[in-house]
Amino acid sequence: MAENTGDRTKTGIYGFDDLTLGGLPKNRCTLLRGNTGTGKTVFSIEYIYRGISLFNENGIYISFEESPEQIKKHARNLGWDLQKLENEGKLKIIDARSVWITSIEDESTESGLGHLLNRIKKEVKEINAKRIVIDTMYGLFVESKFVILIRRELHKILNSLSGMDCTSILTMGNIDHAPGIIDYTQVLEALVDCVIILEEKKKGVYPERKIKILKMRGYEHVAGFQPMVITPGGLSVFPLIPRLTKLIEKRNLKKDTSVYIDSPAFISCLTKKIPRGCNILIAGGVGTNSGNIARQILSDGLTRNESCLLINTHESSYFVEKFMKNFGVDFQKYIKNNKMFFFDDYVKNQTDDRIIKHAFSNPLILSYLMDKWLIDNEPENFRWCINSITTLLAMNDHIKYSSVDIQRFLYDKVRKIRSLRGIGIYTINKDAHPPNLINMIENMMDMVIELKLIEEKSVQHSYMRVCKARGVEANTSWHQYAVVGGQGVIMANDAYSAFKNSC
Ligand SMILES: Nc1ncnc2c1ncn2[C@@H]1O[C@H](COP(=O)(O)OP(=O)(O)OP(=O)(O)O)[C@@H](O)[C@H]1O
Ligand SMILES: [Mg+2]
Repeated sequence: MAENTGDRTKTGIYGFDDLTLGGLPKNRCTLLRGNTGTGKTVFSIEYIYRGISLFNENGIYISFEESPEQIKKHARNLGWDLQKLENEGKLKIIDARSVWITSIEDESTESGLGHLLNRIKKEVKEINAKRIVIDTMYGLFVESKFVILIRRELHKILNSLSGMDCTSILTMGNIDHAPGIIDYTQVLEALVDCVIILEEKKKGVYPERKIKILKMRGYEHVAGFQPMVITPGGLSVFPLIPRLTKLIEKRNLKKDTSVYIDSPAFISCLTKKIPRGCNILIAGGVGTNSGNIARQILSDGLTRNESCLLINTHESSYFVEKFMKNFGVDFQKYIKNNKMFFFDDYVKNQTDDRIIKHAFSNPLILSYLMDKWLIDNEPENFRWCINSITTLLAMNDHIKYSSVDIQRFLYDKVRKIRSLRGIGIYTINKDAHPPNLINMIENMMDMVIELKLIEEKSVQHSYMRVCKARGVEANTSWHQYAVVGGQGVIMANDAYSAFKNSC
């Protein structure tokens, strides 16, 4: 189990501790602000849950809005068993729905603030809590004209919480205030050491979530809004934007003398050159070997010392490695040299395990993980391959993401390939989708290689052609090809005879 040392409290929320460059200010109060539905409660529950499960730091959850049962249900939907933690004496959920603001010195009223703070103190001692959440502060206040009173009481609450040697999170909604009425959110913001803002807006079909550290007294942090995703596994933050911008700027400054890369043997029959920054769509059907062709273009990059990322949406990397061995490509060798990387649904114990399992049903997560791969590896030259878009579309159609979301995801990736001068390879089963969708995806690409099978005298023949190649001279006629053990994809009739003989 990790330990929280120094003057920071690591939340354990994916990516958040990178955003704050170390965690929340220890034993201080943080305000988490956002409109309804932006994720305040998810964040708060996860902060407490990760504290206990990752750092052995017990927690108190004070709920002003939902009953303890609702909180536990909420957590169960996120995959966490709070009841078990409560039974083990690591967590206490306090129902504060009936508590109202009174002077904290007034401890006599059951529903008074003074009474509640005493209870928190007692519980903190009892379970040796290190984390406190108050969800939400709104529950504490009626809108008041008496700002001085509110300010004084808030100050006392914060002091009282800090005095308990706990790192606290207070949540607060954004409220429209009538003229002349005090906005105590601002008062709270001024009093706490750290303010986090959550935002959500609908763009396309899925909600686009963002998170920002508005202030963190005395500490450096990543600036500006950064992407955030909520999945059934919790919250994930991707503080990537500043580093991605830097990477793109750096790449754009670099004088690129070799505009064209060497092309793989079989592509060279179709086009003379493949330019850097090229996105290639391999559009085939069942049995056309689109996956093998895509992997061959990828592995061709490995032999040219490029970094490669292979995204297997429907196969385990273990099997893919085996297939490629049959074609004479040893992925293991490149994995060991940190040149070859896989994302798949099967790999266990990788750093991004916790969220990678959501990547194939959530295009935003896959998109951010691909960007993270770029930032973490800063490859000089690189290729990535998504095999296949069809699976992504199928998996997402059944959940809440639509093909529009996948198109947005692809468009983002295609643009990254262009601005960073990599090579993007994508496969699609064109028989599985409506023609207008195929058209949209083909439109985004710089090169489209079409595959088809033709049965002649009871024997199936495979053909490919380049049907689109932006900015390069291409031979657009059909070429016969075959996939041969030990050699991979080879063109022309001679190769095909070799394949037939080997059967
Ligand atoms: N188990 C889950 N799986 C996927 N998404 C979830 C899950 N639970 C919550 N969400 C998403 O998180 C969003 C934010 O929920 P949350 O309750 O944290 O908002 P909030 O900011 O606390 O809102 P309010 O101010 O109304 O209390 C939900 O609207 C939903 O879209
Ligand atoms: Mg809430």
